Amino acid sequence: MPHLAYGGDYNPEQWREEVWPDDIRLMLEAGVNLVTVGVFSWSRLEPTGGTYDFGWLDRILSLLHGGGIAVDLATATASPPPWLSHEHPEMLPVLADGVRLWPGARQHYCPSSPAYRLAARRLVERMAERYARHPALAMWHVGNEYGCHVPACWCDESARDFRHWLERRYGTVDALNRAWGADFWSQRYSSWEEILPPRRAPTWSNPSQQLDFFRFCSDALLECFEIERAVLKERTPDVPVTTNFMNVFKPLDYWRWAEREDIVSNDSYPDPGDPDAGMRAAMAGDLMRSLGRGRPWVLMEQTPNRVNWRPVNLAKAPGQMRLWSYQAIARGADGVMFFQWRQSRAGAEKFHSALVPHGSVEASPTWPEVVKLGAELKRLDVVCGARVKAQVGIVIDWESWWALELPSKPSTELRLMDQVESYYRALFDGNVTADFVRPTDDLSRFRLVLVPNLYLVSDDGARNLVGYVRGGGRLVMSFFSGIVDSADHVRLGGYPAPFREMLGIEVVDFLPLPAGTTVPIRWSDGTTTPSSLWTELVNLSSPGGDGGGAAKIAEFASGVLDGRPAVTRHEYGNGNAHYLATRLDATAMAELLRRVATEAGVTPVVNAPAGVEAIRREAPGGSILFLMNHSEESVDVRAAPTGEDLLGAGGDRPGGAVRLKPRDVAVIREPRDSASDG
Ligand code: GAL
Repeated sequence: MPHLAYGGDYNPEQWREEVWPDDIRLMLEAGVNLVTVGVFSWSRLEPTGGTYDFGWLDRILSLLHGGGIAVDLATATASPPPWLSHEHPEMLPVLADGVRLWPGARQHYCPSSPAYRLAARRLVERMAERYARHPALAMWHVGNEYGCHVPACWCDESARDFRHWLERRYGTVDALNRAWGADFWSQRYSSWEEILPPRRAPTWSNPSQQLDFFRFCSDALLECFEIERAVLKERTPDVPVTTNFMNVFKPLDYWRWAEREDIVSNDSYPDPGDPDAGMRAAMAGDLMRSLGRGRPWVLMEQTPNRVNWRPVNLAKAPGQMRLWSYQAIARGADGVMFFQWRQSRAGAEKFHSALVPHGSVEASPTWPEVVKLGAELKRLDVVCGARVKAQVGIVIDWESWWALELPSKPSTELRLMDQVESYYRALFDGNVTADFVRPTDDLSRFRLVLVPNLYLVSDDGARNLVGYVRGGGRLVMSFFSGIVDSADHVRLGGYPAPFREMLGIEVVDFLPLPAGTTVPIRWSDGTTTPSSLWTELVNLSSPGGDGGGAAKIAEFASGVLDGRPAVTRHEYGNGNAHYLATRLDATAMAELLRRVATEAGVTPVVNAPAGVEAIRREAPGGSILFLMNHSEESVDVRAAPTGEDLLGAGGDRPGGAVRLKPRDVAVIREPRDSASDG
């Protein structure tokens, strides 16, 4: 679309048709240009198996098209209709302990169920046939939030599918036995038929089996998506296909999923009560952009105000919806959409806010903000397609995430996203832009690569990271990285075997800390800071050894590790690598990353006061700088370049600075030469 998309989930099937013209009128008032139609309408479209009713959908699509509103048409397969599970009860998902999930909510299907897959394909074929040439059709929305409620199923159908998946992966039972380390606890299999998903067992199931089950579950759902996508691509090769992601969602390997999407889209529901909400939403935005390999993505769902699924659902403060919408655009989104258009009267989400409330729009505290944002976005065509450039890469790998958080580790308190956030927070606060990357990606465009707790690493991934440093890259890695291979077998020869030479250290043992306790570490300048969660017994490699030894830049300052390395730095090849043997507190992390980044030549977007987020998008005709004030105070951004504020707040520039009221935003079109190189 030549314009930023603005709109949301529209569920006209919940309303009498007399209401629809009013919807269109209000959509036009709000500046809506794209709506997602029919996400949960399967039981309306196919009231009984094989009988279809598309009349209502035809009528609403015509109305929308008549109003100039494009449609992101949903395939409606996220909530199977009652007749399907009635005819095929075996399609209902089963938990690890054998409990079957019943219909009555949504997403009640086993991803491997042939009955579900067949019925879904049949419906999508009918829809593609009917609407392929509809002038309102702008995008296909497959399913909805895959895996949100049912990321895995342990039923017999899933067991059969899991076995096939394993056969494809390993070829022979012997190879599987080796990969699963099946001699531990007498688990050698003699035939494929004996193999099960990791159902509830007396104690820990085999971790390699669990890891494969994670891989399989992500793939099984991806196959559901693929079945629908294939139908749509055959009929409408030029219509983009998406399915909406859920931020940093553990069950699905979004790297693999995003490769199959034309446009990445995301649902974002930051908690207004969470002081880190802005940082977390920014991180999700950077992830979406990175998953799409830099291409613009779409904020598919957010709420104008309250959700209804937290224990206490706080309202957004005035301006917060607008601020968080701009945050998505600043981080690469070309569209801002909501769940949902009109607030439901019935059902489980009737107290979830919507653009059109139960009462009148005139009385709604959020409607004016919705209308204002819609009008503003119309002025930002120049942003469409503009790219965000990052100098820093942060490594995230789903397989490592899954393996790291399986039980029976030195500490179950070690959670990947806490660690990723401990890096990300420092960058966010310093307005340094980062992309997320896989361990095997080309890293050459980054001045600095951050590797939070990469417990599992493939041979290729390890080689790539080491090669990056050898070739002149700078890297920071934290504890419990490089420990196992892709089968979750320990890499022998001293931890972290694939990175020892690069880091110039050997980790001899892990000494996790009790929850809530800290240990001081002392830096070279004599200052001490508290660290938590984890410590390690680290030896510096002898200077004569391969690659020489690392330098200690901080040491533990009490307990059994007193005086031993806590943070190290090693010159390796043409680059260098830092290693953190503990979790630093936020101040020390920020200071360390600031120093490393400065040395690597990483530059902040602009120097802005605390609480102001700055991001730049590069368009062919010049760059666009987004300044967003997350604080409760008015602030002046002095370092901001001159240039037109596309939101029209041009007058408010005391002494050349950009003045931002609390939660306010400026979108500055920069003169060609004022933008930095990244
Ligand atoms: C999303 C979902 C929507 C709606 C929304 C409420 O997870 O895709 O259908 O349920 O949450 O916040």
